[in-house]
Amino acid sequence: MSRRYAIVPAAGSGSRFGAACPKQYLQLAGRPLMWHTLASLCALECIDKVVLVISAQDEWFDDYEWDLPRLSVQRIGGPTRAESVSNGLAALDAAADDWVLVHDAARCCLTVGMVERLLAELADDPVGGLLALPVPDTVKRADRDGRVASTLPRSGLWLAQTPQMFRAGLLSRALSDVDFDTITDEASAIEKLGYKPRLVEGDASNFKITWPRDLTLARAILAARKE
Ligand code: C5P
Repeated sequence: MSRRYAIVPAAGSGSRFGAACPKQYLQLAGRPLMWHTLASLCALECIDKVVLVISAQDEWFDDYEWDLPRLSVQRIGGPTRAESVSNGLAALDAAADDWVLVHDAARCCLTVGMVERLLAELADDPVGGLLALPVPDTVKRADRDGRVASTLPRSGLWLAQTPQMFRAGLLSRALSDVDFDTITDEASAIEKLGYKPRLVEGDASNFKITWPRDLTLARAILAARKE
């Protein structure tokens, strides 16, 4: 029977966020932000191992108590997210048929239920897929002056989230074939091989912490869930 693994790339510097430490270490509900991410993944007993990929230069990880079952910390982050994931995948030593779920450390409002939905929907899928959300708003393309150059039809547009779940063999082949600088998620590497990943409806609360204002919302979501 195939196993299930999670890879959490957390080797980014969070330059857009602009904090003194990488955003995954910012304090949220008394813990580093990515503790919440990891806690949801580690709570799933059907996931054999959760590989956290941090930078070899990481100065923050050892300052905190993590205390999470099945967590394996690897200091093998790369210069891009895709390279961090690729390094994590190589460290897993997974069989080609094993499932790998890749999830951004900065999506800290992930719940066990969201992952269970993805696992259930994709259990028999020949390709794999990802959590994503249909675009609710009208979408504009901007010109260089911040004016509307065009309006894109929103029908059929989705916002990609994570986890993104693929067989280890296919994901490894996809990542060995791409220019790491050109992809921002695993699905696009799979698409380049000619496959069509399945879109599984995610949740708006599974957003990625990118800007300081996102922390306020994440705090409110985590507090409301605790009540
Ligand atoms: O920068 P962005 O928010 O898109 O990063 C998404 C995830 O990828 C984050 O969890 C970040 O820490 C991780 N990442 C990484 N290695 C990099 C760049 C980003 O693991 N070189």
